[in-house]
Amino acid sequence: MFKKKTPLVLPPGKFRMGGAHFKDDTAFIATAVNDVKRLADYCGLTTASSLLDWGCGVGRLAVGVREHFGHIRDYHGVDVQPELISWADKNLAGPGFRFTYVDVSNERYNPDGSPERTVASDPGSVDVFYAYSVFSHMNDVDTPAYLKLIEQALSPGGRAMVTCFVEEDVAGWEENPAGYGPLDWQGRLHCTRFAREHFENHVNAARLAVDRFEYGQETDGQSLYVLRKR
Ligand SMILES: C[S@@+](CC[C@H](N)C(=O)[O-])C[C@H]1O[C@@H](n2cnc3c(N)ncnc32)[C@H](O)[C@@H]1O
Repeated sequence: MFKKKTPLVLPPGKFRMGGAHFKDDTAFIATAVNDVKRLADYCGLTTASSLLDWGCGVGRLAVGVREHFGHIRDYHGVDVQPELISWADKNLAGPGFRFTYVDVSNERYNPDGSPERTVASDPGSVDVFYAYSVFSHMNDVDTPAYLKLIEQALSPGGRAMVTCFVEEDVAGWEENPAGYGPLDWQGRLHCTRFAREHFENHVNAARLAVDRFEYGQETDGQSLYVLRKR
C-alpha cells in the first residue's frame, strides 16, 4: 500500500519543474497519464515492465503510473536533487514504486556532484527508459556518455523515450540560445539545444537507433525520440 492513501498527494508547486502546464493539479496529472499511455503505445510499457524514470524530479510520471495502472512491476525514479527525491520517497514510494538519489554532477541542478555518471540501474535491466526534459538541460559531454549508459541499461527489447531541443541548421550544441523558444533562458543549462544531426550522431555512437521522432510538440518546443538498441 502507499504510505499516503487516496486522495493522491501531489507535489507542491515549488517542486514542479518543466513549464507552466505542470503547475495546475489537473494538468499535472493529465500530462503524467498521457505520458504513461504514450510509453505503453510507443515503448510497450505494461504492468510487467521495469520502468526507469531518469531525472524524475518529484515523481510526476509515478503519479501517472499510479493513476493509469495502479502499479507496475518496478517504477524506479532517479534524480540528483535530494529534496525532490526525499519528497517523492515519503509520498509516492510503495510496492512497485521506488526512488533513488544520485549525487552526480549537472551544472544546473547539482553543480557540486560527482563526475562519475550513473543511471543507477543494472545492465540490461530496464524495459522502458523515460527521460523527459533531461537532455534539455545537459552539456554536450554528458549527453553522449548518458546515451551509452541508457543503451547498457536497456533490456534486449527495451525502448527509451526521451525529449530534447533539436533543430535543423543550428550549431551542434548551444546553451541558452537567444531568441529561441518561449522563455528568456536564465542560468546554466536552462535550455540546451542540439542540431538534429549532432544529437542523432550521439544516438548512433551509443549503439542506439531512432524508432520514432516527433518534432517540437513537447514542453517549450522540445522534440520526442523513441530509441532502441541496435
Ligand atoms: C526539467 S526537470 C524534469 C523533471 C521530470 N522528468 C518531469 O518531466 O517532470 C529535469 C530533471 O532532471 C534532473 N537531472 C539532471 N541531470 C541529471 C542526472 N545526471 N541524473 C539524474 N537526474 C538528473 C534534474 O534534477 C531535474 O529534476
